[in-house]
Amino acid sequence: MTKVIHSIDEMKKIIKELKKDNKKIGFVPTMGYLHEGHESLIKCSTSENDITVVSIFVNPIQFGKSEDLDRYPRDLERDRQICEKNGVDYIFNPSYEEMYPEGYKTYVEVEEITKNLCGAFREGHFRGVTTVVTKLFNIINPDNAYFGKKDFQQLKVIQQMVKDLNMDVNVIGCPLIREKDGLALSSRNKYLSKEERESALSLSKSLFLAKQLFESGETDPQTIKKKMEELILSYPLVREIQYIEIVDSETLKPKEKVEKGDTIALAVYVGNTRLIDNIQL
Ligand code: PAF
Repeated sequence: MTKVIHSIDEMKKIIKELKKDNKKIGFVPTMGYLHEGHESLIKCSTSENDITVVSIFVNPIQFGKSEDLDRYPRDLERDRQICEKNGVDYIFNPSYEEMYPEGYKTYVEVEEITKNLCGAFREGHFRGVTTVVTKLFNIINPDNAYFGKKDFQQLKVIQQMVKDLNMDVNVIGCPLIREKDGLALSSRNKYLSKEERESALSLSKSLFLAKQLFESGETDPQTIKKKMEELILSYPLVREIQYIEIVDSETLKPKEKVEKGDTIALAVYVGNTRLIDNIQL
C-alpha cells in the first residue's frame, strides 16, 4: 500500500526509522502526472532498493513568469494508483508552504553548465531545480536517486551539484522512453491536440535524421542542424524552434566537429507547448 505523506517532519521521521533498520532507499523526484517514463524510473528504484519514495511536487520556483505553472497537469489520485501498481512505498507530496514557508531565503546554483541549452531560455529554471532537489535529498536522504535522460541537461546539472557539494547520494540516469512512433514521453504531451501531436513527431524525427547523417559520415554541426531545422519546419503546427544544439555530453559545450558520444538536444514550440528531446550519438 502506497502511503501519501504531506509533512516534511513526518517524512523525515519515517526515513529515520527506515535507516535504523538499514533499509536502502530509492528516490524518484517528479512533478506528478506520471507516465511510463516515470514508471520506468520507479521500476529501477524498486528493483535496486528496499524502499521507494516518489515525490510529487510542482515546484513553482523552477517555472518562469510566462511558463505553464498554472496549467501544469495535476492528478494525485491517478498518480497514487500508478505508484501503488508499481510497488512504491511512499509518495511525498508537500504543499508550497511546507517547502517554501514565509521567510525562505536559500537557493542552490550550479554555474556554467546551466547557461546554455534550456538554461539560455529559462532564466532561473535550474536554480529552482537544484534548490528543490537539494531540499528533497535532505528530507528523503536517499541512497539512490533516479532521473530521466530526457531532461539531459537537468541530469548533468544534478550530477555536478551532488559532486560539488559532496552529497551522499548516487544519481542514476535512466533511458529516455519513447512512444512507438518516436515521441518522447512527457507530462506536457497532455497539452497536445491530435494535430499538434502529429507535429510533435518532428522533434524525434529530426534527431533520427541527424543520427543517420552522422552515421553516414556528416560531421559538420551546421549542416546537420540545417537539415534538422528544415525537417522540423515542414510540420504545420511547429510555432518556433527555440534551439538545436550539438554538444559534448560531459561539458555541454557546442561542438565544431561532431563526434560519437556527443548529444544533440533541442527545444521546439508546437502550438503553445514547449517540448524538448535529445539523442546521444
Ligand atoms: O524533472 C522534474 O520533474 C523536475 O525538474 C524535478 C527533478 C522533480 C524537480 O522539480
